[in-house]
Amino acid sequence: MANFDRAFIDQVLSSTDIVDVIKEKVNLTKNGANFKGLCPFHNEKTPSFNVSSSKQFYHCFGCGAHGDAIKFLQEHDNLTFIEALTKLAQAAGLELPEKTKKNDAHYNLFISNKLAADFYSRALKNNPKAKTYLESRGIDQDMVDVFHLGLSNNKWDDLTNLFAKEKIMNNAVEAGLIIKSNNKTYDRFRNRIMFPIRNSTGNIIGFGARVYNSEDGAKYLNSPETKLFHKSFELYGLYECKKEISKDKSVIIVEGYTDVIGLYKSGLRNCVATLGTAFTKHHFNKIKRYTNKIIFCFDGDTAGKSAAWKAISNCLTELKDEIQLSLVFLPEGCDPDSYVKTDRENFDNLIDNSMPLSQYIIEYLKSNKDTNTVEGKTSFALEAKKVLDQMPDIMYTDILREEIQEITGNVIPKESQTSNNKEKKTSSNTNQEFDIKELTLLSLFIEYPRLVKEFDCKNIISETSLKNIYDIITEEINHNKNFTAAHLLKLFPNNETIKTIVSFESNEKSEDSARVTIKEIFHQLELSSKEKIYFDLLNRYTDGQKLSDDEREFIKTFKK
Ligand code: UTP
Ligand code: MN
Repeated sequence: MANFDRAFIDQVLSSTDIVDVIKEKVNLTKNGANFKGLCPFHNEKTPSFNVSSSKQFYHCFGCGAHGDAIKFLQEHDNLTFIEALTKLAQAAGLELPEKTKKNDAHYNLFISNKLAADFYSRALKNNPKAKTYLESRGIDQDMVDVFHLGLSNNKWDDLTNLFAKEKIMNNAVEAGLIIKSNNKTYDRFRNRIMFPIRNSTGNIIGFGARVYNSEDGAKYLNSPETKLFHKSFELYGLYECKKEISKDKSVIIVEGYTDVIGLYKSGLRNCVATLGTAFTKHHFNKIKRYTNKIIFCFDGDTAGKSAAWKAISNCLTELKDEIQLSLVFLPEGCDPDSYVKTDRENFDNLIDNSMPLSQYIIEYLKSNKDTNTVEGKTSFALEAKKVLDQMPDIMYTDILREEIQEITGNVIPKESQTSNNKEKKTSSNTNQEFDIKELTLLSLFIEYPRLVKEFDCKNIISETSLKNIYDIITEEINHNKNFTAAHLLKLFPNNETIKTIVSFESNEKSEDSARVTIKEIFHQLELSSKEKIYFDLLNRYTDGQKLSDDEREFIKTFKK
């Protein structure tokens, strides 16, 4: 952030009206000099989300979310700072300064991925065998164009040469396109059909790569986790399908890249796929920004069934009354791609008659149990309670509980009636709601304790329980040079927060790369903590309160 051109940011913000930006995403009504609406960042029934046209910022009195137009887009559309800035700049007809582009690590990786994707695309054009393979699967030139499909040749140095020529080898290594080992570099993807994976704004963040003319190796290889690419957050096809998803007001979630393409080709342009991982609550929160109607489509085999339960379990804590979730199970041996090609009409039928979530939960919990017996009912009730306890306090949960009680004869106690409820709820809530940046920071410190001394994070971690852990870690490291995660777990065996941090995968493979990530997070957190102070001061100031000289100086220098 320090590298960004502050004057340019100011120029973008002053050419933007935050009310217009937010109006596109939130229903706002005029309320005196301000605008009011339902907060998009938390679940509420009466509006506490305020947008001030004169101050050009938003503030939610319910959840505390606040910021300017850039921050809003970052948070609402899950964009990086530069992506949000670029979007607003484009809307205002302003060109991003070269300096701003060059200094952004994300931008460099986007450029590398784009360069690679264009290279792969040319390689596919020149390879009749690969084209024939795609055609044999019904993937025609239109689909190749829409999804920007390509080919990595059967060579070890195609991209290596390309990036050496462009003199941006390091970026390509960081983007996971080129592997560097023992001072040798070589292409990660070889002899595979390449599926570029875009984020919701259309920038390429990674690749899926499928074998097509050999049985060697895994069927698919994917880009490794990078600064840009987090498999448990991203959805294949979102960029290509987001318009239809919002328009059609529903999304079909499938398992494979080729499923998205197959459905798209047959006219169903409201599909996304996970990237070979389970469907997570992050996926859920991402997709629900576009639609409230989510239809999962799983293969009917055992793998599909267990993927379904896993997906649903992951989303339980995030459910909302407005969201309609349902599931489709295809006949054994079919996947959406093959099924839609052979029987489009029946596929539509299955989608139209998808199983509502409540029915699925009940049937799943009932399976293998005889609910006509006391034993069966008890075991059903036990499992049902576990599910209900994870669900938020919404009408849907209450109604589902009643439905379940019909089966058990009224024995599922409401969570609020159980003795340790309160304690349990707060601990599980905080576990789930940690800021991903703060969590990454702490998990990296635990993994690479030597780095703790290089950063002073005392004032930038906002979550109290994480801040406490940070204090514990710094304290322990001062006393113990050989500090490890195991050490921490031994000292605090019952601390759920520590368990969460330790089990969080940061995906940094070396101290050096961890340092780079920490530095970046540090800057971002530092900025948001300053921003928070800034907006608090500004609020006090506009409310007519007197500010000290230091406070006024802070506002002036922060100037945004
Ligand atoms: P599938 O095996 O169902 O593949 O895996 P698919 O997408 O239908 O592809 P085709 O039809 O065989 O060509 C579903 C998804 O799981 C991930 C990929 O994201 C794939 O799209 N996967 C699968 C991997 O990451 N690695 C693998 O080896 C296999
Ligand atoms: Mn398939």
